[in-house]
Amino acid sequence: MIWLKFNWLLASLFMVAVVSGSKPCWKKMMKNGVVCVCNSSYCDSSDPIDKVDNGKVIVIQSTSSGDRLVRKTVSTSNKPSNKKILTFRPDLKYQKIAGFGGAFTDSATMLINNVSARLRMQIMRSYYAKDGSRYTMGRVPIASTDFSTHRYTYDDNNNKPDFDLKNFSLAMEDLHYKIPIIKLANKIADKPLKLVATPWTAPAWMKTNNKLIGMGSLKGQAGDNYHTTWANYFVKFLDSYSKRGITFWGITAQNEPTDGNTPNFSFQCMGFKPDAERDFIKKDLGPTLAKHNYSHVNLIILDDNRPLLPEWAIKILKDKDARKYVKGIGIHWYLDVLVPVTVLNVTHYLFPDVFILATEACTGTSLFDTPGPLLGSWARGVRYSTSIIDDLNNFVVGWLDWNLVLDLKGGPNWVKNFADSPIIIDSKQDVIYKQPMFYHLAHFSKYINPGSVRVGIKGDTNNTKIVGVIDSGRGVVVILNPYVKNF
Ligand SMILES: *[C@@H]1O[C@H](CO)[C@@H](O)[C@H](O)[C@H]1NC(C)=O
Ligand SMILES: *[C@@H]1O[C@H](CO)[C@@H](O)[C@H](O)[C@H]1NC(C)=O
Ligand SMILES: *[C@@H]1O[C@H](CO)[C@@H](O)[C@H](O)[C@H]1NC(C)=O
Ligand SMILES: *[C@@H]1O[C@H](CO)[C@@H](O)[C@H](O)[C@H]1NC(C)=O
Ligand SMILES: *[C@@H]1O[C@H](CO)[C@@H](O)[C@H](O)[C@H]1NC(C)=O
Ligand SMILES: *[C@@H]1O[C@H](CO)[C@@H](O)[C@H](O)[C@H]1NC(C)=O
Ligand SMILES: *[C@@H]1O[C@H](CO)[C@@H](O)[C@H](O)[C@H]1NC(C)=O
Repeated sequence: MIWLKFNWLLASLFMVAVVSGSKPCWKKMMKNGVVCVCNSSYCDSSDPIDKVDNGKVIVIQSTSSGDRLVRKTVSTSNKPSNKKILTFRPDLKYQKIAGFGGAFTDSATMLINNVSARLRMQIMRSYYAKDGSRYTMGRVPIASTDFSTHRYTYDDNNNKPDFDLKNFSLAMEDLHYKIPIIKLANKIADKPLKLVATPWTAPAWMKTNNKLIGMGSLKGQAGDNYHTTWANYFVKFLDSYSKRGITFWGITAQNEPTDGNTPNFSFQCMGFKPDAERDFIKKDLGPTLAKHNYSHVNLIILDDNRPLLPEWAIKILKDKDARKYVKGIGIHWYLDVLVPVTVLNVTHYLFPDVFILATEACTGTSLFDTPGPLLGSWARGVRYSTSIIDDLNNFVVGWLDWNLVLDLKGGPNWVKNFADSPIIIDSKQDVIYKQPMFYHLAHFSKYINPGSVRVGIKGDTNNTKIVGVIDSGRGVVVILNPYVKNF
C-alpha cells in the first residue's frame, strides 16, 4: 500500500511537470492535411500568456503546413524596412468581447462520455483549460436536435395536452451526457461558462402540425394557454438545470425560427414570423422569465441566418414592450454568402445597446459543402477564422461553434444531416483528431479574454484579415492570411 501511495505521488508530480510545459502537436497527415492526434496518454497543449515583457511581442503561429500555435518572442526595437507595421488605435473603441465556445449537443456529449476517462480529460482540457483553448461560453439545446439519436421533448406526454406541464422531465441525455459534461467543463474552466440555452421545438401537442418536424408553429395566439405553457416550459428547463448546479447566461427564443416556416423541414423546428416572436416575447416569454426571477438571463432573438437582418431586429425591437426584455441578437453563418457582413454593422447602429452574438456555425453541412468531416482541411479552418474576424469587426461580441465533437462520419445525427467538427472522435481506437478548425478558433478563444474591447488597427492590412482588441493595457491582434496557396 505504501508503495502504491508513493507511486501515485510520483505520478502526480510528473503530471504537474507535464502540465506546466507546452506539448507539440502529434502530427498525422490525413487525406486533406494535418491533424493533431491525442490519445489517453498524449495530447498537445500550449501555455497561456501570463505576461509580456516591455519591448517584446509574443507571436503565436499556425500554418497550413502543420505549425499549431507555435510560439516565439520577438523584439519591437528593430523594425526591418520590409516588414509591415500595425498600430493599435485605442482611441477607437468598439464592442466588449463576451467570449467563445461550442455546443453541448446530445451527440457531442454522448461521444465525450463514451471514450476512456483519460481521453475524456484530454478533450475537455483541450477546450477549457488554461493550456487549452480556454473556451468561456457554451450553447445547450433544450431537448433534442438533429444531433440526437432520436426526437423528443421534455413533455411529449403521448401527444396529449399537459398545460400544467405535470409530465415535464429532463431526458436521459441531460442526466447522463449533457449535465455531467457541462459540470466538468465548468470545473476545468477558470470560472463557470456563459451558457446559452436554445429550444428547437415545443412538444407536438402544442403545435399546429402536431409534429416535432416539418412546417408548424405554436397553436393559437400570443398570450393564450399554448403560449403561456411554452414560456413556462423554458422556466421548468432553467429550474431543472439550476437544481443540478448549472445556471445560464443567455437564452434564445427559438432556434432558426424560419425552419418551421419551411414545407417538410426534415428535423426538429418550430416556425415563428418576426411578429409572432415579438408578441410571444412581450406577452409570454419576457414576463414569465421575469416573474420567475430569470430576468438576468439574456434573452436573445433571431438565432437564425443573417440575411434576415436588419428587418427581423427592426420588427421586434421597434416595439417598446418587446424591446425591454431583449438583450441580444443571435446569428448563424450558413447563408453568409447571400449578404455582406456589414449588415451586422447596420443592425448594431440601429440598436447599439443590443449585443450581436454568433450562436451557431459549422462546416460540412450545407448545400455548398462536402457533407461530413474532411480530416485535416485547412480551408475549413480558414472559413472559421474568416468568419470570426469579419464578425468581430462588425460588432459581434462572441462566436459559438456547433458540435464540440463528432464521430468519423460527422454524427450521430438521426436525420443523417452529418457535419464536421473541430474535434473528431475515433471511439474504436480511443483517439481524437484535432482539426485545423480547432486551432483557428483557439487563436481567438485562447488569447482574447472576455471583457477585452475591440479597437481600431492602423497600417497596411492588404492581403490579410485583422482584428485587434485591448485588454487592461495589453494589445492582441489576430492576423489571417487567407490567400496562401496549397491549403
Ligand atoms: C499515445 O501516443 C503516444 C505518442 O505517440 C504513444 O507514445 C503512446 O504509446 C500512446 N498511448 C496509447 C495508450 O496508445
Ligand atoms: C409521462 O412521461 C413519462 C416519461 O417521463 C412517460 O413514460 C409517460 O407515458 C408519460 N405519461 C403520459 C400520460 O404520457
Ligand atoms: C411535402 O410533403 C408532402 C407529403 O409528404 C408532399 O405531398 C409535398 O409535395 C411535399 N412538399 C414539398 C415542398 O416537398
Ligand atoms: C430572486 O433573486 C433574488 C436575488 O438573486 C433573491 O433575493 C430572491 O429571493 C429571488 N426570488 C425568488 C422568488 O426566487
Ligand atoms: C457602419 O455603420 C455606420 C453607421 O451606419 C457607418 O457610418 C459606417 O460606415 C459603417 N461601416 C462599415 C464598415 O460598413
Ligand atoms: C462507444 O465506444 C465504443 C468503443 O469503445 C464503440 O464501439 C461505439 O460505437 C461507441 N458508441 C458511439 C455511440 O459512438
Ligand atoms: C494596398 O492596396 C491598395 C489597393 O490595391 C494600394 O493602393 C495600396 O498601395 C496598397 N498598400 C500597400 C502598402 O501596399
